Amino acid sequence: MKMQVQLNVNDTTHQLEIDANATLLEVLRNLTRHQSVHRSCEEGECGACTVLMDGQPVNSCLILAASVQGNRIMTVEGLMKGDTLHPLMKAFTDELGLQCGFCTPGMVMSAYALVNQWEEEVLSDMDIRKAIEGNLCRCTGYVNIVKSIRRAKAAKDAGNWW
Ligand code: FES
Ligand code: FES
Repeated sequence: MKMQVQLNVNDTTHQLEIDANATLLEVLRNLTRHQSVHRSCEEGECGACTVLMDGQPVNSCLILAASVQGNRIMTVEGLMKGDTLHPLMKAFTDELGLQCGFCTPGMVMSAYALVNQWEEEVLSDMDIRKAIEGNLCRCTGYVNIVKSIRRAKAAKDAGNWW
């Protein structure tokens, strides 16, 4: 069954006709063309499809697109300012927090939610690892990812953040 929906993705409103049982992942990849949102397990296990819904990380493969009308969806494209990388994305490149890059958009969204909402002075490696525990990376061993997120926190503390 087809239905009309209105989705807010990266502060842009999309009027779409979708299958009633389409997942948010399918709609983001196939209709709104946010192909940074990666498809892998489609079972909520790998985190490759992570996006933010009203600021909180969610697995878009587990959510029906029709159920998120009225919510603000954010993908990694929404972090960019024109061609300028967000300080968090820059931290991932500077600290070599990615190799093949498959996990990276989802990892970055989980990391963004963590750093953006973190109000305490110290962000420990344990806090970081807990925040990204739902995002699997087969390449890096996580050490450089943790360093990247630490660097992003320092950037935020220095006022370099949006
Ligand atoms: S594709 Fe959604 S969690 Fe793996
Ligand atoms: S960089 Fe390859 S899966 Fe994480």
